Amino acid sequence: MADKMTISTRGKLMPASPIRKLVPYADAAKSRGIKVYHLNIGQPDIETPAEMLAAYRNLDLKVIAYGPSGGRYDYIRALAGYYRKRGIEIEPADILVTTGGSEALLFVYQAICDPGDEIIIPEPFYTNYAGFAVITGIKIVPVTAKAEDGFALPSRTEFEAKITTRTRAILFSNPGNPTGVVYTRDEMEMLRRLAIDHNLYLIADEVYREFIYDKEVEHRSVMNLSGIEDRAILVDSVSKRYSACGARVGCIVTRNRKLTATTLKFGQARLCPPTVDQIAACAALEAPDSYFAEVREEYRQRRDLMCKALADMPGVICRKPMGAFYTVVKLPVEDAEKFTIFMLEDFNQNNETVMVAPAAGFYATPGAGKNEVRIAYVLNTGDLARAMEMLKQGLVAYQAKQA
Ligand SMILES: Cc1ncc(COP(=O)(O)O)c(C=O)c1O
Repeated sequence: MADKMTISTRGKLMPASPIRKLVPYADAAKSRGIKVYHLNIGQPDIETPAEMLAAYRNLDLKVIAYGPSGGRYDYIRALAGYYRKRGIEIEPADILVTTGGSEALLFVYQAICDPGDEIIIPEPFYTNYAGFAVITGIKIVPVTAKAEDGFALPSRTEFEAKITTRTRAILFSNPGNPTGVVYTRDEMEMLRRLAIDHNLYLIADEVYREFIYDKEVEHRSVMNLSGIEDRAILVDSVSKRYSACGARVGCIVTRNRKLTATTLKFGQARLCPPTVDQIAACAALEAPDSYFAEVREEYRQRRDLMCKALADMPGVICRKPMGAFYTVVKLPVEDAEKFTIFMLEDFNQNNETVMVAPAAGFYATPGAGKNEVRIAYVLNTGDLARAMEMLKQGLVAYQAKQA
């Protein structure tokens, strides 16, 4: 009799996190007494705002009840105020609160695509975009951006070459994970025109909005592109903004009411986003602007330190990232995964080593990004300087071994 207890094709196709794939090597190094500096994950070490932490501490509820499926009304109203302060004029009715930006992406995929439909994404991209595509049966179609160009948006022609009758949307993160790119006025205008000319949605993942480090660099929200009010979809999250990744609160913002009504039905099926975390996220909105100013200054110092150190490593290509807290760099190695494993298995300096994330996992094109790694500058400047020194020495040792 045929075995009915099988694992679904979707289950088999679902990619394991490429960021976590090499964790067993790091664990093995740690069990040998080696300290690992983690530049491979996007877990910020910055403190969550005091206002948010206080809300958790002072929670005064007798029952942790379900809330509205689209999010708590007090939170939604306050959130609309946050966007207004950032120059994004939207109504509370344009917001649907989700369980993290992750659920926002899943809801959006499901609301605008049928299985087999396509979403175009500039690569390298946030890996879970591909995971959510497997869950929903959607095809991700990559358009490749290049390290040498600072991961600027590929040309209109390159996008148009990928548009088919199944294309429903263009999705991008801005500021970008893993590249740190922040799209210019011209790049945003190109995306706007593409959306109009080819009748597509434009989905902007702006979870790193607050993380931009130079005065001359301006963040341009998809919600402020004119003439695409019904096409623009913003995905957002408190995870990075308030260094509150465990709070699991995100949202979808769109002026397309039909779309919000649809995502609300998905929201109803999972009942509600977390009640307690929304209360805390609402309190986080009271954090003063000085909170962001301090966080930005901290990351700016880290970025500058990292760029300076990378510029000093022969054969390494890194354009200065403008936002988020990542960069993708080209290394003078053939296979960045092998180099990453070498750093964990064979290399140490005074029983310390460093872990980066091989960038191939951020590409959908097979073989792309093989000699690149993503570095997350989520360590304090002292530790980051030490990690950069080890990366430099590690490259020298690896090249000597290869020779
Ligand atoms: C670009 C991007 N979008 C979405 C997410 C997911 O955010 P959340 O923790 O809100 O699910 C992340 C998390 O790293 C991210 O980097």
